[in-house]
Amino acid sequence: MQLFHLLFVFVNIKSIFSLINFDLTHTIKSTNPIFPGLTPFNFTQTFTRWRQDDSNEYYFMALNTFITGEHFGTHIDAPYHGSNTSWTITQIPFERLVSIQALIVDVSKKSSKVKNYQIKIEDLNENVMRQANGFYVLLFYTGKSKFWPNQDAYAGGHSREELDFPGLSAQLASYLVDKYSEKLVGVGIDTLSIDPGSSKHFSAHRILFKKNIYVLENVAALNHVLKYLSNRRETFFIFDVLPMKIEDGTGAPCRLVARVENFDDISGGPFGFLIFCLLLGIIGIAAKVIYDFKFNMDKDFA
Ligand SMILES: *[C@@H]1O[C@H](CO)[C@@H](O)[C@H](O)[C@H]1NC(C)=O
Ligand SMILES: *[C@@H]1O[C@H](CO)[C@@H](O)[C@H](O)[C@H]1NC(C)=O
Repeated sequence: MQLFHLLFVFVNIKSIFSLINFDLTHTIKSTNPIFPGLTPFNFTQTFTRWRQDDSNEYYFMALNTFITGEHFGTHIDAPYHGSNTSWTITQIPFERLVSIQALIVDVSKKSSKVKNYQIKIEDLNENVMRQANGFYVLLFYTGKSKFWPNQDAYAGGHSREELDFPGLSAQLASYLVDKYSEKLVGVGIDTLSIDPGSSKHFSAHRILFKKNIYVLENVAALNHVLKYLSNRRETFFIFDVLPMKIEDGTGAPCRLVARVENFDDISGGPFGFLIFCLLLGIIGIAAKVIYDFKFNMDKDFA
C-alpha cells in the first residue's frame, strides 16, 4: 500500500504541483481596527453614473477616492519605518517579497491566557526553521484575528493605555536577528503590532528593522491555513507579499497570499491509478521502440 501511494505521488504530476491558495488579507474598510493616532481609511464614492455615447447607447461608470494612512488594515511596515538607514517600501528587494516561503508559529494557547503575552524564544520550532532553503517569513498566530473587526476585543481598546494584545519580546526579536537574518526576511502577526500592546517604545520593531527585516501586521486567516495543514502544521509553504508600491513609503496596504500544497489531491484515487497505468504503458512502448531501433541499427552495421 505504501509503495502504491508513493507511485501515485510520483506519477500524478498534476497533484504534486496543485496548490491551494489562501488570502491572508482583511478587506479594507473604514471600520477596521486601527493603531491609536494613525489616519484611518476614508473611502468616498466619487460618482456612479450612466452616460450616453454618440449612438445613444447607455454605459456605466463608477469611481471612488480613498485617503488612508500607510499602516492601515493588513499592511507591511518597511524597515525604514523605524530605522533611518534601512529600506523604504520600494527599496525592499522584490525577491524578498514574492515566491518566498512562510512558516506559522502557533502561540494562540499562551496568548489567550496572558494579557499582552510576550512571545518567547521557546515558542519557536527551530528544528523546522533550520530546514528553510530560501527566504522566508515567520507568521505568528495569536488567535486575536478571531475578534476582527471589533477594536475592543481585537486590540483592547482605542487608546494607547488600553491596548492589550500579544507580541514579540525584545529577546525574541534580538535572537531572530542574530541567528536567522540570513534567510528570515520578514515577521508577521495577526494583531495591530508586532510589539505587545503594552509596549512603549516598539523594541521588536526597531530590532528587526535595523537588520532590514520587514513586518506584516493584521495578518488574516492564519487559522484557516493551520486547520488545513492540521497535523502538518510545522510546514513551510509558498508565500507572496504584495504591497502597494509607494515611493518613500514607510508602510503600505498589502495583499498576502499563502499557497499550500494540495494534500487532499495527493492520494491519487482511481484517476491517479489510470494515469499511472497509461504512463507505464507509454514507457513500455517507448522502450520497445528504442530497443527495436537500436537492434536493427546494430544488425545493419554488423
Ligand atoms: C473623508 O474624506 C472626505 C473627502 O475628502 C471628507 O469630506 C470627509 O470629511 C472625510 N471623512 C472623515 C471621517 O475624515
Ligand atoms: C541616520 O541617523 C543618524 C543619527 O542621527 C545620522 O548620523 C545618519 O546620517 C542618518 N543616516 C541617514 C542615511 O539618514
